[in-house]
Parts: sequence; C-alpha cells; structure tokens
Amino acid sequence: MTGTAASLLERLAQLEGDGLAAIGNAGNGEALEDARVAYLGRNGVLADAMGAIGTVEPERRPAVGQRANAVKQALSVALEAASTALAAADADADHPTIDLTLPGRRTWRGGVHPVTRVIDEICEIFGDMGFTRVQGPEIETTWYNFTALNISLDHPAADMMDTFYLDDGVILRTHTSPMQARVMEASEPPVRVLVPGLAYRRDSFDPSHAPAFEQIEGLAVDEGVDFVEFRSAIQTFVRRFFGVDTKSRFRPSFYPFTEPSAEVDVTCSVCHGSGCSTCKRTGWITIMGSGMVDPAVFEAVGYDPERYTGYAFGMGPARIAMVRHGIPDMRLLYEGDTAFLEQFA
Ligand code: DAH
Repeated sequence: MTGTAASLLERLAQLEGDGLAAIGNAGNGEALEDARVAYLGRNGVLADAMGAIGTVEPERRPAVGQRANAVKQALSVALEAASTALAAADADADHPTIDLTLPGRRTWRGGVHPVTRVIDEICEIFGDMGFTRVQGPEIETTWYNFTALNISLDHPAADMMDTFYLDDGVILRTHTSPMQARVMEASEPPVRVLVPGLAYRRDSFDPSHAPAFEQIEGLAVDEGVDFVEFRSAIQTFVRRFFGVDTKSRFRPSFYPFTEPSAEVDVTCSVCHGSGCSTCKRTGWITIMGSGMVDPAVFEAVGYDPERYTGYAFGMGPARIAMVRHGIPDMRLLYEGDTAFLEQFA
C-alpha cells in the first residue's frame, strides 16, 4: 500500500493550493466563510483527507499527519489574515477618512465685469437695429480726434477734453468719436456702426471721473435719415435697456460735430423721477450726448452733405453701470477689487 501515502500527500498539496486561492479570492465575509466551511469545516475537504490518514501504511502515518497539520495551519493563518483585511475594509467604509459633513471647497467663478456687460447689452440692442460693432485705435491723430470732427485745435472744445499728447499731432483719443471719421472714410453709406472702446483724458481719478474710461460711439448715415428716426432709435434703446416705464427726454446742447445736438436724459432708475442723490434731486440722469451729424464732418470725410444725413451719439457705459447698480463712486468699477466685483458675477 505504498501508493496511499504518496497519493494522500498529493491530495493535501492540491487542496492546500485550492484552499489558499479560495481564501484569497473571497471578496467579502460571506465568501470567506464559504471557503472556511469548504476547506476547514467539519465535513470539509481537509477533514476528509485527514480521515484517510488511517489507511496509510503505519510507518508513513506521522509524516503524512504532519503535512496535514501544516496544511491546516497554513489555511487557518490565511483565513485569519483575510478576515482581518476584510474587517478593516469594512471599518473604512463605515468611517471614511473623507468627512462628508465638512462644507465643500469653494470653486472660483469668473464673471463678466459690469461695465463690459453694459457694453455687450448696448451692442446687442443696437445690433438688432442693424448696427455692427467695430473697434478703432486708442492712439489717434489730432486730425481724426478733433479736426475731422469740426473741432478746431484752438477752439475751447479742444481744451474741454484735457488731452494726453504723445507726440506732435499724436494723442490718446479723448473720445471714441474719431471712429466716425475713420468709418466714413473707409466705406460708403449706408453706415450703421457702434464703437465701444477706451478714451483718455487728463482728469483726476474721482467719484465721477477716470483718466481712462469706456465710451460707446454710435453712427448712422444714409439718405433720408432724419431726427424722427434718430429719436425712435434712442427711445427703442432706452426702453429695452432701462425698462418700458423709463421715460427719456432730449435736451438741447452743443457739440461741434452735431447740429442740432442734444443730451439724452432718462428718468432716474433709483428714485423713478422723484429726486434722489443719484440724480442730484432732478429726477433725470444724462446718458448720452448726441445729434444730427454736422455737414462739416461729412465734408471732412468726403461724403456729400446734400445727399446724406445721419445721427451720432456717445455714451459712457461706466456711468450707466453706476446708475443701473446704484454704485456711488466710479473708482469702484476700475480698481479691480474682486470682493466688490464678485457681487455682479
Ligand atoms: N464725444 C462726446 C464726448 O466725448 C460724446 C458725444 C456727443 C458723441 C455727441 C457723439 C455725439 O457722437 O453726437 O463727450
């Protein structure tokens, strides 16, 4: 019966390998318990193999018995280790190292600057009326900035806007109006453009002035453009931008490049016309300068003033943003303080 010991040792080796694999593959407590019952249980494969030791030739019995005990030991150790590992994983799941009760980490959100928003909205509204958005140079010649716009250099209007000179005849534009001349020089009527951009003046930085500030210029030129079309375009804009209940009025004014000229006022959005500090107790806020294009400007750019007429306007989006949000000091809009700007994000 020499074969009995050898075949039993083989059987033990096989069940040790299978048992360790079954224990190692058990992904949860239930599977591990199944493996324990199958290999180490009272009716398991190891008990069965051990029961066969009695059939082995007596002199080989101690060796086979030792081997069987070693297998039992190996399976028990593996079972213990697997059970500890599963318990630890369970504990992790019950008490995760991430504390879900903590407030979430804040993600920073970018926002469009309130002045940029005003510009975009104005461009959209006039865009619906056929105006296209164009840009022009901030470094400008005195010819486009003043002369072409009928502002003679020795006229008080040229001093009215304290100018940054870069060189003889070269300046930082004091308004976006020079683009009127550039656009008309470059194209034939009909013209309908909107020009947002920065303008520069040697003004102190105070609650209502900034040395660099946005403007939006508008220009419409064609045959038969009259004051009625002009007024209705502005009224359409005011209703859409400020709301249908906002009233507007045209107040006679003077600009060298428009004749007649008018300033456009709207009822104060803070007090709705009854008078407050924003509107200096008048109930009205001035939002733009405007008028019918002066024939002298058409002559300067080579348009026939007998054939064409047009209107032009210029507004300050920062001032409009201040009115819209009740911001008392223009500097707040230009200092880049994120705590302030975040409110509008
Ligand atoms: N350029 C003027 C300014 O800076 C604003 C202005 C007034 C523009 C009347 C116009 C206009 O086009 O017709 O104060």
